[in-house]
Amino acid sequence: MSGFTHIPILAKEISDLLITYTDGIYLDGTLGLGGHSGILLEKLSEKGRIIGLDKDINAITMAKENVNDKRLITFNLSYTCSDEALKQAGVQGVNGALFDLGLSSYQLDDASRGFSFLRQGPLDMRFDTAQKLSAKEVINTYSADKLENIFTLYGEERNASKIALAICAARRQAPIETTTALAKIVETVLPRFGKIHPATKIFQALRIEVNGELDCVKGVAGILKKILLKGGRGAVLTFHSTEDRIIKFAFKELCQSGDFVLVNKKVIEPCFEEIKSNSRSRSAKLRVIEKIK
Ligand SMILES: C[S@@+](CC[C@H](N)C(=O)[O-])C[C@H]1O[C@@H](n2cnc3c(N)ncnc32)[C@H](O)[C@@H]1O
Repeated sequence: MSGFTHIPILAKEISDLLITYTDGIYLDGTLGLGGHSGILLEKLSEKGRIIGLDKDINAITMAKENVNDKRLITFNLSYTCSDEALKQAGVQGVNGALFDLGLSSYQLDDASRGFSFLRQGPLDMRFDTAQKLSAKEVINTYSADKLENIFTLYGEERNASKIALAICAARRQAPIETTTALAKIVETVLPRFGKIHPATKIFQALRIEVNGELDCVKGVAGILKKILLKGGRGAVLTFHSTEDRIIKFAFKELCQSGDFVLVNKKVIEPCFEEIKSNSRSRSAKLRVIEKIK
């Protein structure tokens, strides 16, 4: 075991709905620490395989240690390159694909990755540490208008304009270098009140911008069309309304094409017990679709 863990969300529901063929080949587009992959592998036969992708090379290393199973084949690639990964693995198509969007607990807990306003670290937030754009560059170089746009669109932050102006005023004094420095600037506009930290939405928005997350999410439907075999299923776990809306409408379009049907008409959410034992699951929504032609 790597020592880091990530509790897979809606694991039983995903395993029950996704695995329709125990000898099959499945794609885990967001491998993380391998939590879901490990559970899916328990259901697969010796012939079954999982192709696991992650942009984060450290996640891949830890997933391999955690899962420790030859049936897991990994690639340090974005899921937007799923077809390329399948080609490299010599696979024509898959019986199912999972996309568990966002970041893992390990990334949040590792202060040096700069994802958390609770831990002092560099303003980084890159899933792929070889990428150039970091949160520091976004915060220190984007115009006030551009920052406001990101905070509104990706964070649904009502005080986006005031926070963007506060950031621009602060960076005129000195560059904003750390997660906690940014959180303090947000707190000058939105004082702490209640359980949710005022910087929550700003950090979510920044992470989405740095990693181009919504462009990737917009690609999910096209990937499913390309890689799923007939009868294969695609499952997507979303964590905020913007990405969930994208998946909801993309799935609707896939169904209108006549090639897909929804497996669950109503979105699946974690039950009270799961939310109580894993607060990160509170905003999760699961949608599953099947390719019928
Ligand atoms: C929520 S975690 C997945 C956790 C995993 N299901 C588990 O149970 O351990 C999401 C993971 O997706 C990765 N990720 C985010 N965007 C990605 C992309 N476009 N392609 C590949 N991996 C991505 C992140 O680096 C992170 O490790």
